[in-house]
Amino acid sequence: MTLAVQAQHVSMIYKSNSGHKVQALENVSLEVSSGSWCVLSGPSGSGKSSMLHILGGLLTPTAGTIEVAGYDLTQATSNMRSTYRLRTIGFVFQAFYLLPHLRAWENVALPLLALGEPHKVRKERATLALNAVGLADRLYHHPAELSGGEQQRVALARAIVNHPPIILADEPTGNLDAASANMILDILQKLVQQGSTLICATHDTKVTERATQSVTMRHGKVVDLV
Ligand SMILES: Nc1ncnc2c1ncn2[C@@H]1O[C@H](COP(=O)(O)OP(=O)(O)OP(=O)(O)O)[C@@H](O)[C@H]1O
Ligand SMILES: [Mg+2]
Repeated sequence: MTLAVQAQHVSMIYKSNSGHKVQALENVSLEVSSGSWCVLSGPSGSGKSSMLHILGGLLTPTAGTIEVAGYDLTQATSNMRSTYRLRTIGFVFQAFYLLPHLRAWENVALPLLALGEPHKVRKERATLALNAVGLADRLYHHPAELSGGEQQRVALARAIVNHPPIILADEPTGNLDAASANMILDILQKLVQQGSTLICATHDTKVTERATQSVTMRHGKVVDLV
């Protein structure tokens, strides 16, 4: 079976301006097979988001090696990292991070803009992605004109607009009611069925129930790997 993620002995120490240090991850090793739905669970502060940000190339670990979809992130230059973030990874943040002055389709098209795609391609592919999350009729809405569940679906459409092989989702259902959460989970499940690898940090048992791999973290360590 091909591995989508191979992280070995990863540690992360945050250093604040005041000189304080927090060890968020300590010697974490993790393997995720391609096509899995892997859930990272564990109490608040256990290091789930830190791990996702490292896997997404948004954060450089203090120690350890990481290979994602064949990319050796440890060796990557900052240029390689930005290409990696745009082409290989789709990141879904709990807080959506949609730009308020852009319409739904323009938010979804942002990764394509960064890749230099022309307007026509951006619009077509953003429309397809919004269609995939059931929002074909909200193309021209601004985020403030959308419900929380719809905003999360726009954020998901932005994450998948480039068909990344790996989707990283940090509490994708954290701010949603049960119906919106289930809708997001159904979309994610379909993406996994179509071959994407999904890694989710979550406290939500509705997400855990659908996972094919479960990783429990505590105090920055993996305590249970099923
Ligand atoms: N930028 C930062 N600077 C300093 N410490 C940080 C920073 N980000 C996270 N931490 C610390 O690292 C530890 C792990 O945080 P992380 O956000 O990875 O936890 P988490 O498991 O995602 O928690 P939650 O379930 O609350 O989202 C925490 O103790 C946190 O205070
Ligand atoms: Mg978190």
